Amino acid sequence: MSDILSRRGFLGATTGLAAAAAFRVPAGPPEAPAVHIRPPAKPVIVASGNGLRGVERAGQLIATGSDTLDAIIEGVKIQELDPTDMSVGYGGLPNEDGVIQLDASCMHGPTRRAGAVGALENIKTPSVVAKYVLLYTDHILLVGEGAKRFALSYGFQEEDLMTEQTRQRWLSWRANRSGRDDWLDVSGEHEMVARPHGTININAVNARGEISSVTTTSGLAWKIPGRVGDSPIVGAGQYCDNDVGAAGSTGRGEANIKACGAFLTVENMRRGMSPTDAALETLRRVVATTEGRLLNERGRPTFGLNFYALNKNGEFGAASMYPSSFSAFHGETAAVHDTAHLFEGR
Ligand code: GLY
Repeated sequence: MSDILSRRGFLGATTGLAAAAAFRVPAGPPEAPAVHIRPPAKPVIVASGNGLRGVERAGQLIATGSDTLDAIIEGVKIQELDPTDMSVGYGGLPNEDGVIQLDASCMHGPTRRAGAVGALENIKTPSVVAKYVLLYTDHILLVGEGAKRFALSYGFQEEDLMTEQTRQRWLSWRANRSGRDDWLDVSGEHEMVARPHGTININAVNARGEISSVTTTSGLAWKIPGRVGDSPIVGAGQYCDNDVGAAGSTGRGEANIKACGAFLTVENMRRGMSPTDAALETLRRVVATTEGRLLNERGRPTFGLNFYALNKNGEFGAASMYPSSFSAFHGETAAVHDTAHLFEGR
């Protein structure tokens, strides 16, 4: 049995599974249609474009009996430990002081538990620390020094996360900064220019209809120290409801936080939308809640944002502001697909 299901949530999990056998979407808005649930025969996993190796690994693990959250965390760890992925974990791009601060969160549908860390320094795998918060505490989000002390107490190693490549990128940014930082001009005319903004999100459902989600990132490059994005915010960077589905995001966190995008996407699926339509609808809400300085002359966002989603039946999809890609594992193969998108170009 997984270390997650073996802990205190197990009783609740089995009860939940029994209830799911005769599933009708509960607790939704009054107009919510009844949705008949038939989980997929084989695991289905959906992720951001950089998650191809991750969905493949998670798919193999779930197929051999691994818990969905354990499996997708093994999937995102591939990127966290890869020094060439400058958006996640080891080798991620630093903040404006040259310090790498990592964010991650996860949810385990069967036990209805969540864990997260924000602004975590010197630990390569924040997704695993987030899982430990889920497993071993009554809290959900630990940040900064407290998150690091928590990780060290469980034997995580304190390590230098900067690579020569990311150090050179930071030195180059620092030498050229000015209008390209996070401090707004007094005039309010300052345009936020595009900057490296990566992340990995993975969501999975197995043949028993058990769902989990995880998102991990080094966040916005050159951010103000202490800035926390959407990734560790449950309901924004990822969200999972074992009765409905899961969703997660990559892209400009500030835009997503205001829309509670992962939660909203799951709620859209609860109301009967397909995963792709649910994600597109969330993006429309994001545009509607975007302040003028972040819209161009055509009223389109000056930033990118993507959502990835799946439901309990194993239907999956993804949508983005502008053309983008996502990874998925279904049947027995992993592949990269094009997202649905709101706008063809800026
Ligand atoms: N979505 C990642 C971030 O904004 O930090």
